[in-house]
Amino acid sequence: MLPEDLRSEGGVVRWLRLDRVEKKNAFDAGLAGALMEALEAAAADDAVRVVVLGANGDVFSGGADVSLFLAIAQGQAEEAAKVRAVPDALRAFPKPLLAAVQGPAVGMGVTMLPHFDAVYAAEEASFTLPFVRLGLVQEFGSSATLPRLIGRQRAAELLYRATPLDAETAAEWGLVTRVFPRAELRDAVSRIALEIAVAPLGALREAKALLRGAEGQSVEEAMAAEDGVLESRYGSPENVEAVQAFLARKRR
Ligand code: COA
Repeated sequence: MLPEDLRSEGGVVRWLRLDRVEKKNAFDAGLAGALMEALEAAAADDAVRVVVLGANGDVFSGGADVSLFLAIAQGQAEEAAKVRAVPDALRAFPKPLLAAVQGPAVGMGVTMLPHFDAVYAAEEASFTLPFVRLGLVQEFGSSATLPRLIGRQRAAELLYRATPLDAETAAEWGLVTRVFPRAELRDAVSRIALEIAVAPLGALREAKALLRGAEGQSVEEAMAAEDGVLESRYGSPENVEAVQAFLARKRR
């Protein structure tokens, strides 16, 4: 896992890259631990406003390291526990979290994606869910997250059929936010991340928490939650600064 700060805006965007290329970025305890440590560091660093997870090599991730399945069966669950903690770490990350999927994503490489705020993919990316073929079932809450994003029947086809879904269809279905030519993916995602990073961090965090919280709420409950947050946001330093900047711009 290589952290890479985007310095053009004072290090506000931090790129992390999965880097277990020889195993197609399959998640073992080492890669999972490195990702979670890097997320913790980015969460604690006030200079970082947006994090992007990409990957080195031609594959985004081959999913959980298949040797973990045998280890679990043999009673060695510790390694697997670290890998299984990844979605909680992604969900708990308090700032905008983007994924840049440059190639095939398999298994966990797909089920982790709904926990991001946005997913950008190269035209060459693909998305495969082999769990059922492997005699397993889906994980990381994807029984709930995938139908929310793409619908239950599309999720069922992905799971039962286990053939790679191309990036364009994934975007049409809603699993992917936008698709770019591979050569442009990094710059395009950096540009979007920098646009996001311009917003005040406190408001970004609150907006993210509201979107998350609303997953299990009615519209009325979401409105009540928004009103609660807005009360403390009106006239806050971030709000005053942004409004003054807007008014000053209009006067010029
Ligand atoms: N766990 C462990 N090793 C993995 C892996 C995984 N999930 N995914 C890939 N690898 C390893 C391969 O075993 C191989 O190791 P080796 O060189 O020591 O033999 C190496 O990565 C290269 O993989 P290979 O299959 O030759 O690369 P490819 O470019 O032809 O295909 C993938 C890449 C990702 C499409 C393919 O490896 C794949 O489908 N992996 C997914 C395996 C899986 O079922 N994952 C889901 C777990 S729920």
